[in-house]
Amino acid sequence: MNPTRILPHPLWKTVRRLQSLECRFIMDGAQATGVELREPAKLLMYGTLTHDPLKAASVKLDGVPTVWMHNDFVAPLAPWFDRREAFSRFIHSESELPLHATVPGYAIREVDPATELPLVATILHACYDAPTPGTDEVTTWTKRPVFDPHAWLWVIDHKEKRPVALGIAETDTVNGEASLEWVQVLPAFRGLGLGTMLVQELVYRLEQKAAFTTVVVQVKNPCEPEHLLRRCGFTGHDVWWVLHR
Ligand SMILES: CC(C)(COP(=O)(O)OP(=O)(O)OC[C@H]1O[C@@H](n2cnc3c(N)ncnc32)[C@H](O)[C@@H]1OP(=O)(O)O)[C@@H](O)C(=O)NCCC(=O)NCCS
Repeated sequence: MNPTRILPHPLWKTVRRLQSLECRFIMDGAQATGVELREPAKLLMYGTLTHDPLKAASVKLDGVPTVWMHNDFVAPLAPWFDRREAFSRFIHSESELPLHATVPGYAIREVDPATELPLVATILHACYDAPTPGTDEVTTWTKRPVFDPHAWLWVIDHKEKRPVALGIAETDTVNGEASLEWVQVLPAFRGLGLGTMLVQELVYRLEQKAAFTTVVVQVKNPCEPEHLLRRCGFTGHDVWWVLHR
């Protein structure tokens, strides 16, 4: 009922790895009070009902290089790690469908996965300062069971007849969770309402197939995606920290 507090990612990303993991429940009498997921020499997930996470996790985290931790539990652990990045995870679960924003001169069109994956990689590259996935990696996203061709959308500029924004979402029909994976507008076209148009269209399409839609965004983002997402009906206050050492 509250996936944004329980996991930092969509559930399917954890579930697809379960087959290869060792799963151990921590028992207190007949009650399970925690769960550990491991692969050899690696602790991948640690969940506990205890309210003393430091006591519960200190031994387990010794030597672990990277940890995702919910904000509620991070304080005692943060000093052990040199680098910290915060991510907000939001959810859209209103049963009422959102309004459809439109911007004159621009239209939504689905990406053609047969011919347009190199263009997807090019647009991603143009939208971020940091390195972005190339065509080969983008192609792997279309092979996943959660690939949803109706949730890969361009915003097309009618005048220039070319894509100026791109949104990519995934739909996990088994667990009823959809997720916005990539939302971006070319720098020259920002502030026109295209981000809003794209997110509203994605949410509209996703809510026909999933119980809710989630999204993860970096807290320190000068584009302030939180503003865009809240404007489009996303809610929540769950912050996840990635701690590195
Ligand atoms: C985030 C992004 C998609 C927004 O796209 P956009 O087309 O500029 O968004 P919109 O024009 O629809 O604006 C949506 C709201 O966000 C606000 N906004 C847009 N850019 C902003 C910024 N840099 N700082 C603060 N607010 C901003 C707008 O004012 C608008 O709010 P309002 O309607 O209350 O005035 C775009 O900046 C982008 O592509 N950034 C790089 C990729 C990225 O960070 N993606 C994460 C998105 S989840």
